[in-house]
Amino acid sequence: MADRRRLYTPPQLVPLTYVSVTKHVVRDIGTDHGYSADLNADALLAKFGSPLFVVSEHTLRERFRSFLDAFSDAGIDTRVAYSYKTNYLTAICAILHQEGAWAEVVSGVEMALAEHLHVPGGHILFNGPLKRRGELERAFALGATVNIDNFDELALVEQVVSGLDRPTKVGLRINFREGANPWTKFGFNYEDGAADEALRRIAEHPLLDLDLVHNHCGTFMLRHAIYGRSTDVLIDLARRARALGLTPTKIDIGGGFPSSNRLKPEYDFPGGTNWHDDMYLPYAEAVLSRLAKAKDAFGGQPMLILEPGRAVVDAAVQLLSTVVSVKQIAGRGRAVVIDAGVNLLPTAYWYDHAVVPAAADQRHDPATDVVDVYGPLCMQIDVVREHVRLPAAKVGQSVVIANVGAYCHSQSMQFIQCRPATVLIGADGPELIQRAEVWRDFFARDVVPERLLAHER
Ligand SMILES: Cc1ncc(COP(=O)(O)O)c(C=O)c1O
Repeated sequence: MADRRRLYTPPQLVPLTYVSVTKHVVRDIGTDHGYSADLNADALLAKFGSPLFVVSEHTLRERFRSFLDAFSDAGIDTRVAYSYKTNYLTAICAILHQEGAWAEVVSGVEMALAEHLHVPGGHILFNGPLKRRGELERAFALGATVNIDNFDELALVEQVVSGLDRPTKVGLRINFREGANPWTKFGFNYEDGAADEALRRIAEHPLLDLDLVHNHCGTFMLRHAIYGRSTDVLIDLARRARALGLTPTKIDIGGGFPSSNRLKPEYDFPGGTNWHDDMYLPYAEAVLSRLAKAKDAFGGQPMLILEPGRAVVDAAVQLLSTVVSVKQIAGRGRAVVIDAGVNLLPTAYWYDHAVVPAAADQRHDPATDVVDVYGPLCMQIDVVREHVRLPAAKVGQSVVIANVGAYCHSQSMQFIQCRPATVLIGADGPELIQRAEVWRDFFARDVVPERLLAHER
């Protein structure tokens, strides 16, 4: 008879995370926090149309460099693998690769882009819970690191590498329990023995070697202590791997670092996140201090890999938009409708994006209204920002929705309105890096059977 007993899981006390604390939060009335630059918006909008995404090359490079710098330390080889899905505008990825970024990809599509941009295979990390056989074959042919996510994928990897004539290095994604909402959908669990079993399987396979241990613990993680725990778990796993004869050299602690945006109060620390230039130092300290004492677990010279998305790209992109109407809404007060909506800004559901007049000299106009800012979609949920001070709000005014680099381009929806162009502001002035959508783009993939086109006139 099959043994139906389950492993005993001890009860746990879990600390409440900031997400659950909302009761005493005072509603924030936003001002121009997080945005102070002057973009010469009217000239840009006249040339490229409204709305318009604007990427600052300088800010992008500067954010990448300061992030890398925060995590750099003597004796540790630190690499930043940019998380493509955060914003895979080709020009953005190209700039970051010029800065030395590796590519963190989670699909065949993203891997194809990395290949198109000539990223060396050894600088590509392939993550995610769906990797098709053909994609795995391509990844191994390129020399990319595949971070195996689950036992079914491990079985597929075992099959694929059996057809190769050389040993193949892989990574293993690990999850662990921490707090009320742990990211345990991905990877092998540390506590229940799954990670150990995966290590054993890799150790027993004649053509597999383990080069990397990986964890990505969440997104916009405001508690840096979790990165300390992540590092401890991965160091322990690396040691267990070495005990089985494996030789990991890389530790990958993923992304999830906050950006200079502001979460809505219901998701934020009470009182609000206080982003500042040295924001990442405590995160780095949590990781580097542990790694410095555990170099042996990675063969003496660990390579530390980080996979930031929003921390690098959020502040580098602004959305310019134009006020199309100003109205009084029964029971709510003043409101403005602008020509950019949540189909471009899915982040408006969890961030309080700063919305400010594009012209810097209008920002301190005493005629300041507190308004709700709606988008142009024919949907009640199209709310870009509630309760924001918008000085001198009037039709035709151009506004900036600040810090929209992360998950806006890549998660934007083709819905009702065409998506706008994107320009890059670099040393040579504005350059178009993505054209605006036109109505035909909406229907470019449709196929209409001939018989449906015949109709009575
Ligand atoms: C595996 C992995 N790495 C990196 C990232 C980037 O996360 P963030 O933009 O929060 O830094 C993600 C996003 O969820 C991810 O799933």
